[in-house]
Amino acid sequence: MEWLYIIAAVLFVLGLKMLSSPDSARRGNVVSAVGMLLAMVATLLKGGISFTWIAAGIVIGSVIGALWAYRVKMTQMPEMVAIFNGFGGLASMLVGWAEYHMHRDAPTSTIVSIYLTVLIGGVTFTGSVLAFAKLAEIGVSGKPFMFRGQHIVNGLLLAGAVLFGVIFTLAPESSYAILILGVVLALVIGVFAVLPIGGADMPVVICLLNSYSGLAAAAAGFVLANNMLIVAGSLVGASGIILTEIMCKAMNRSLANVLFSGFGAAAGTLSRARAKGEAKSISPHDAYFALEAARSIVFVPGYGMAVAQAQHVVKELADHLEANSTEVKYAIHPVAGRMPGHMNVLLAEADVPYDQLVEMNAINPLMPTIDVALVIGANDVVNPAAREDKSSPIYGMPIINVDHAHTVFVLKRSMASGFAGIENPLFFKDNATMIFGDAKKTLQEIVSEFKAA
Ligand code: TAP
Repeated sequence: MEWLYIIAAVLFVLGLKMLSSPDSARRGNVVSAVGMLLAMVATLLKGGISFTWIAAGIVIGSVIGALWAYRVKMTQMPEMVAIFNGFGGLASMLVGWAEYHMHRDAPTSTIVSIYLTVLIGGVTFTGSVLAFAKLAEIGVSGKPFMFRGQHIVNGLLLAGAVLFGVIFTLAPESSYAILILGVVLALVIGVFAVLPIGGADMPVVICLLNSYSGLAAAAAGFVLANNMLIVAGSLVGASGIILTEIMCKAMNRSLANVLFSGFGAAAGTLSRARAKGEAKSISPHDAYFALEAARSIVFVPGYGMAVAQAQHVVKELADHLEANSTEVKYAIHPVAGRMPGHMNVLLAEADVPYDQLVEMNAINPLMPTIDVALVIGANDVVNPAAREDKSSPIYGMPIINVDHAHTVFVLKRSMASGFAGIENPLFFKDNATMIFGDAKKTLQEIVSEFKAA
């Protein structure tokens, strides 16, 4: 069956490669899923398996997974990914534990793998469950939680995990209690690792936990001597860490800063340097005239577009603009929204052509030539304080320079801040005008003006 595993591994790699571009991403997903199906079939054909239990697992898991995936809202996607990562970690932890139960006399390399599987799986499990709870605000606040001596406690917990690992490896046959202590420590470390991380940093930690779940699976692969699990786990581990790195770069933060700084813990202490001037606002009706006269328009979507579910009406407006000979583009910031690729997914759902999506680095040089930048529920990713205000917490974060366009319209409901909790001087710039209201409703009103014209 190893040849089936090789085909599955190739499909995983091809699928991942295809996921890196919006126009091939859907196919990439299918290709990877076929790879996973092959891997499962190959494993089942290996023999020595209780098909009753497997069938029960497939039915229960498929029903829960399908129902959840159908019901989840786009804005809840990060929390769903978080809890699924957690299940992956739990599964690996149980595999490691069960193998120890059956083979306490295994060679040292397997014993080390068992401990690593249990440790990383346990951390991933509770870390992910807490991340899920924080995002869904079930029983805990989404804010970072810090306490005095937190780093010392974390250091002691880690040192304990290493110590138990050494004792367990040296005398595995008589160390059941030590393994159990290792499990308990892993579960506690997962909680303590995620506690100081808050709101908008959660997607980063979810990517990291995703990477951990891959590492736990790869370690379980070593325990079971299953090459497929090692390859698949390593791919998840590597892609998770690469994505984590990309997100940190796009926020101009180091991973250490995300993990340990409790960004936003003291909301009131963040830079509140008041932007000068007064924000102007107009009605959708008045905005229509400017849009109708514009030759080039860039839509800049953000988290608010996801909340308003405005992507379909954005596309409808784009169709009217194009019929009016206006050039339309969409500027995509790598951390717009609340999860990687958030805006791409929503716009793809609305059938926006992929070639109109332009990455931040490509759109910024064009901004001075753009007639209107239409900011749809974006805030932090267009905040010029990141460029101009050295005291700003987001100083240095790359942004989409909408303020360089001739005119900027900002669609949002109020003057409230975005994820970073800081004011946005863009709203007070001479070339910027607010259009207050729910983004979908505002866009629908503009579209009806086009229809009536
Ligand atoms: P935000 O800065 O969070 O701003 C979103 C804005 O949308 C809010 O200011 C809100 O203003 C507005 N809004 C909410 N509901 C709306 C509705 N129904 N209609 C119109 N507007 C609405 O979003 P962003 O610019 O996309 O930036 C993303 C932030 O998340 C960044 O700080 C980024 O670092 C962080 N983050 C992102 C990720 C990923 S992977 N995407 C990961 C970690 C962190 P009102 O309340 O006034 O309407």
